[in-house]
This record gives sequence, structure tokens and C-alpha cells, in this order.
Amino acid sequence: MEIIQFDTQQELDSYAARYITNLVKEKPQAVLGLATGSTPIGIYDKIVQIHNDERVSFKQVTTYNLDEYVGLQPQNDQSYAYYMNSHLFSRIDIVAEQTHLPNGMADDVEAECIQYDKMLAEQPVDVQLLGLGHNGHIGFNEPDQNLSGGTHVVKLKQETREANARFFDSMNDVPEYAVTMGVGSILKANTIILAVRGADKAQIVKDALTGPITTSVPASLLQTHPRVIVLLDREAGRMLN
Ligand code: GLP
Repeated sequence: MEIIQFDTQQELDSYAARYITNLVKEKPQAVLGLATGSTPIGIYDKIVQIHNDERVSFKQVTTYNLDEYVGLQPQNDQSYAYYMNSHLFSRIDIVAEQTHLPNGMADDVEAECIQYDKMLAEQPVDVQLLGLGHNGHIGFNEPDQNLSGGTHVVKLKQETREANARFFDSMNDVPEYAVTMGVGSILKANTIILAVRGADKAQIVKDALTGPITTSVPASLLQTHPRVIVLLDREAGRMLN
């Protein structure tokens, strides 16, 4: 596990964006695993800037997002589909049909999960971008006695709904369920970039990276992966030193 600490958020964003765009330059048909939340927004802005300044094309790139809320239409501005379109997809030359998110509106969500895993098996992720929840969740894999390997429906923990309520008009609007790639699917990526910022994540960063490997801290399973690059700002990394 390579851990890199940055003095500023901008440096962290630039590093991650440069890593991803360099991959796309070297491998135009790259498969990217993408994340949502507030942390990747600056990374996506920087990717758009590099796309514009250096004409890095995403026409042949395929993307798979980690997760989506159940019950939100893609047009809902709180859906992760909407987030991805506004922060990245509509700002680069990616082909819409090559961008994938779990479908939280499917009539048969279970079948949708199986289909998502099938597509992931056919197009393995080259680099997976990840954020970190305050309780150690990755994607929406919440702490539990058991974790699911593949894509599945999860009931969100109260603390996760509260953490994400800031994006919604009220707590009641925060969905109770989500569809997420499983930890098993996430760990199949060739390379994983975990980006974390902020003092409020310092303890969970320490637990995830240096504590025991346990399903009660889903991110701790990243310790079992051979190629994880952890990008931290000063505050998120302050308990590691
Ligand atoms: C959500 C997402 C996660 C994300 C986490 C942290 O729960 N499902 O993928 O990593 O939030 O988000 P933030 O970066 O806003 O702290």
C-alpha cells in the first residue's frame, strides 16, 4: 500500500487526475471505476481541465460507478447518475453508452446486480477511484458481520444517511436503500486509488490502513489488495504519523 500525503487539496486532486489521464493516454480503452461524494469533485474538475488542455480523449473509455441510490430517477439532482453527468460525463467526450451505474430504479434490482457483475467480469476495472465513509464504508458497503462480494442492495446505516443528508432538502428525502458494488468486485480492480480528506476522517483512515482487517471497517479489506494508492490531505493523514 502506497500512502501519499499532500499539503493541499489541489495537489491531491491533481495527482489523482494525472494518474487517471495518464492511464487513458497509455490505454485509450481503459476501464475506470468511479466514485461519488464530495471528495472526487475536485479530481473530476482537474480531469476535465487536462482533457481540454491536453486533448486527452475519453471516447473509448468505459466507466463503472460504485453505487447508486434506490428509488431516485437519473434526472433527480441527488442521484449519482446526475452527479456523474454534471461533474464529469457531460464535460468530456465520453460516450454515454459506455458509462455505467447500478440501476436503482430497476423493477428487478437483483437481476440488475447480476447483470452489473457480469459486465464487470467482462471489462475488468483498470483503476478504481474510492472515497471513504466516516464509518469505513467503501461504495455503500456498510460495516457488518458479513460483507457481500458482488453487487447488491444495501440498507443504509443511519449515520450514512445523516452524513449524506447535507446534499438533500431534508433527512426524509435521503433514500434508505442503495445498490453498491461489493467489496469483492472492488478488490478485483487492477489498481485502487483511495482519496480521503479532512480531519473528521483521520481516525477512520488510521483504523482502515493500520488496524485489523475486519468487516466492521470495510475499507480495511483494502490492506489485502496488492496495488492500493492512498491519497490523503494533511488533516486526514494526521493520525498516521
Ligand atoms: C457516500 C458514497 C461513498 C463516498 C462517501 C464519502 O456514502 N457512497 O462512495 O466515498 O459518501 O463521501 P465524501 O467524500 O462526501 O465524504
